[in-house]
Amino acid sequence: MKLAGKVVAITGAGSGIGRALALEVARAGAHVAGLDLDRARVEETASLVRAAHARCIAVQGDVSKPETAQAFHAAVIAEYGVVHVVINDAGIIQPFVPFSQLTLPQMERVMGVNWWGVVHVTHAFLPSLKTRKEAQLVNVSSMGGLCPVPGQGVYGASKAAVKLFSESLALELEGTSVGVTTVFPGGVKTNILANAPDISAEEKQRQQGQSRDYGVSAEEAAATIVNAIVKRKERLTVGMDAAVVDKLTRLSPKRVGHVMSLLMQHAGISVKET
Ligand SMILES: NC(=O)c1ccc[n+]([C@@H]2O[C@H](COP(=O)([O-])OP(=O)(O)OC[C@H]3O[C@@H](n4cnc5c(N)ncnc54)[C@H](O)[C@@H]3O)[C@@H](O)[C@H]2O)c1
Repeated sequence: MKLAGKVVAITGAGSGIGRALALEVARAGAHVAGLDLDRARVEETASLVRAAHARCIAVQGDVSKPETAQAFHAAVIAEYGVVHVVINDAGIIQPFVPFSQLTLPQMERVMGVNWWGVVHVTHAFLPSLKTRKEAQLVNVSSMGGLCPVPGQGVYGASKAAVKLFSESLALELEGTSVGVTTVFPGGVKTNILANAPDISAEEKQRQQGQSRDYGVSAEEAAATIVNAIVKRKERLTVGMDAAVVDKLTRLSPKRVGHVMSLLMQHAGISVKET
């Protein structure tokens, strides 16, 4: 799929991978629509995209609410008349604590953004995508949706839900004009920890020091994802860690969790129930 002249709608466009995706598709000649919970951040992304001589609208909203997805779709159609690519990127991580220390509202927030957000936006945009000769839906899952990670069980469950939803939808859409790409990033250097709504400032500072240099850049991740959209690939891992976990999960599903536990302990994060 050629992106020049196409309309690309991206959730979570105010930061990290979402912002890098907005800039990368703009460089390929696409028109952009960005949505984010944080108005200032998504407007800054739009300014950066316009500075790169592409069109961009910025919409503020919360993907966990179905009316946000409807309003985003309406704004995209009002501005461009059509939409060719939708990227479900908005996501949050959970506090790195054992399950019994999580509150129900914290868990609901993670599922609300990571799972229901993908469902709401897909539900709002799919009818419009189907009217195009060629369209692509991109769902950002995670390496954490492929294997268990202690201290990120609810996050992992939300991303595993996205994986199966996305893969099932790909099968349902076979033979139509809409392709589906499911993305499994490993570590990407973004502000995902700083942006997490329920992690204390103290905990963020402690972990930031430990994980600052881990992962590929948001720009590298975006370039890989855009290449997958152009090639209309169904499945994509981003980074060596995600590729290894993807293989290991198939070879030894029991061991991979313990390997993840050891890696977390190595990074100074040990999450155990007592
Ligand atoms: N960074 C990583 O290591 C990593 C690894 C695997 C998967 N991912 C996934 O990649 C995606 C992007 O993450 P990132 O690392 O760029 O994080 P980020 O925090 O830099 O960007 C995420 C953006 O989503 C927005 N957002 C959060 N809640 C929202 C809501 N309710 N409605 C609308 N927007 C909302 C945030 O404001 C933020 O701008 C997420 O789905 C994340 O789970 C990231």
